[in-house]
Amino acid sequence: MTALEKAAALKARVKTPGNPISALTAYDYPTARLLDEAGIDLLLVGDSLGMVVLGYPDTTHVTMEHMLHHVAAAARGCKKALLLGDLPIHSYTTPEEAVRNARRLVEAGAEAVKLEGGIRQAEKVRAITEDGIPVVGHLGMLPQRVKEEGGYKKKGKTEEQAAALLEGALALQEAGIDALVLESVIPSVARKLSEQLEVPTIGIGCGNGNTHGEIAVISDLLGSYPWFVPPFATPRAAHGQSTSEAALAYQKAIKPFGEE
Ligand code: KIV
Repeated sequence: MTALEKAAALKARVKTPGNPISALTAYDYPTARLLDEAGIDLLLVGDSLGMVVLGYPDTTHVTMEHMLHHVAAAARGCKKALLLGDLPIHSYTTPEEAVRNARRLVEAGAEAVKLEGGIRQAEKVRAITEDGIPVVGHLGMLPQRVKEEGGYKKKGKTEEQAAALLEGALALQEAGIDALVLESVIPSVARKLSEQLEVPTIGIGCGNGNTHGEIAVISDLLGSYPWFVPPFATPRAAHGQSTSEAALAYQKAIKPFGEE
């Protein structure tokens, strides 16, 4: 399937709510390959890599160069899933810049791009989609604005916030997105938005079953970044612990020089 066919198939999943979209982040070849072979629908090379791979405090340190490096690695392992690449902060300040950097992600191997924000991004979404590149939107908690927001906060708590989310989602939909990530939107508002849109919503921290699919950060799923686990995450493995145990077992098994 071409990138456009994969994106169209993703968009059509709004009509099959009984078949929810599965999405996970992947930042390297082996992870992308394992998740793709497991049948995950969508792999996101998210700018969350700034924290869980590169060790920065938040995603505002991520550059296009970081994204290109990791998109290329994940693309080598991804055959069936739609490979989505994040446009990092400061890489889409104008429609022209958004198109230029979306093209660079596609040249590195991404099949679609994601950007954060509502009405103020609609023009950029339109420019990228008119260039033939599928776009996924991202509303709710916007990690690239964490400093302005003063932390990771739930969205949709007031009527004004809920109305602004709907207005932003409709503007993005009109501009041509194929799907919308909703992050940390309160469950009732996430559900209502999902009912009102014609594109599928993919939730993280919105409560299971309130969106057309779920996305998780792979290290939250695997327990491989034990220093910070978001309250909504459900770890299904303990890679941090098994890595420490394996390292210790390896260290203990090293023989002193000369011992047979
Ligand atoms: O960068 C990322 O991992 C994301 C997810 C939280 C959706 O944008």
